[in-house]
Amino acid sequence: MPEDRGQWSGKLGFILAATGSAIGLGNLWKFPYITYENNGGAFVLVYIAAILVVGIPIMMAEVLLGRKTQLSPVGAFQNLGKNKAGGQAWTAVGFLGVLAGFTILSYYSVVAGWTIHYAWLALTGRLVELSSDPQALQTYFGSEFLASGSSQVFYHVLFMGLTTAAVFFGVKRGIERVARILMPFLFLILVVLVIYSSTTEGFGEALTFLFRPDFGSLTTASVLEALGHAFFTLSLGMGAMLTYGSYMGRDISIPRAAVQISALDTLIALMACVIMFSIINSADIDVSKSSTILFTTIPTVFAKLPAASLFNAMFYILIGFAALTSTISLLEVVSSYAIDNLGWARHRATLTMGGAITIFGTLNALSLGASSRLSSINLIGRESTAGLFGTMDYLASNWYLPVGGLLIALFAGWIMNPRETRQELETGHGPLASFGIWHFLIRFVSPLAVGAIIVSVILGKEYN
Ligand code: TRP
Repeated sequence: MPEDRGQWSGKLGFILAATGSAIGLGNLWKFPYITYENNGGAFVLVYIAAILVVGIPIMMAEVLLGRKTQLSPVGAFQNLGKNKAGGQAWTAVGFLGVLAGFTILSYYSVVAGWTIHYAWLALTGRLVELSSDPQALQTYFGSEFLASGSSQVFYHVLFMGLTTAAVFFGVKRGIERVARILMPFLFLILVVLVIYSSTTEGFGEALTFLFRPDFGSLTTASVLEALGHAFFTLSLGMGAMLTYGSYMGRDISIPRAAVQISALDTLIALMACVIMFSIINSADIDVSKSSTILFTTIPTVFAKLPAASLFNAMFYILIGFAALTSTISLLEVVSSYAIDNLGWARHRATLTMGGAITIFGTLNALSLGASSRLSSINLIGRESTAGLFGTMDYLASNWYLPVGGLLIALFAGWIMNPRETRQELETGHGPLASFGIWHFLIRFVSPLAVGAIIVSVILGKEYN
């Protein structure tokens, strides 16, 4: 028997940790950037619809599979697949999740590391200096920072160290504790920045852009992009929520938790948009379409406003915190496989897996310098970009996550007995009037929607 797996201290612990996993670079960086590219309003509505009909049902499915088995993905599918159609073949879904966790973490932590460097640059005043000339800032980012292998490796290793340390101390004393400290902080910084942005003249324009839909500008590509993003932002498709669900007590309502986590995640993504669009509008700056806007444009904008260094630093610390609670969940999926299935002690599992990902990620970090063309950096993007970094990102977001999500939905909707799924969803909740709606969504709507993403990838229609 593996060692005591650990459990959240209660409902709040689970919600904070899971929300921490969900809120990350996807919310603070990718969402504002794709909302900008897709013309706001209508895209935001489609995205919210995707969260409701695809995101929440799949999150409920993942959490129920985890809590039912009290195991991480590989063990959960092994256990549940046993006497069912497909049998042990379902275990592959678990392994796909472990592979996805390994892959995503190996490049996500490189970008997460950038936030430490930029917070540091802000605090020393260097960032404001650089920002006086937008071109200088671009050059610094591309030709100096990205091109410097030693910087890339240093911050990646630092970020992996923080991540590994948190996971090392276990579910309650490590993962939950970090979330309990960082999440309120993150929320506070966001509120301060939203208030700050509401005093800028671009605020009204930002709200109009975000909340006045213009359906004429909506394309199939943007619908698919909204769908794919709903998936990534809620940490779905690789068993991260499944793993977190496996540490959850039977007194907690899964449907309620899934709704709360998704609502918080969406709220924060929208707050990030309000902040960024307000300050960008106010500064009258020509925003390049580059996805590196966070590191090459935002500081220039802050520099034109009062207390630039302070708000710049706060901004990067915010993003770093959000990223850390996400990298923790990625490492936990990989480590918990070793704990549950190989019988390793947690300390051994986290140090080994954390170490292996650090080493592999170092190659990603170095590949950035080698291909340091600004345009080639398109994290979590759809196109296969240059270098190892781009390939890892391409594989994860185009293949591992959608395929994993599709299989999870099919398993929960078609392979599991409705009596079993209903019982798990009602445990800690009471009679679930909306079970029929969930069952319909997970059987038909989610697989079709996720299937559409996969088909578009196969047909080579990049939806970015
Ligand atoms: N959801 C996180 C974000 O928006 C990223 C993330 C963490 C993730 N864990 C995940 C994505 C698991 C997919 C699967 O940044």
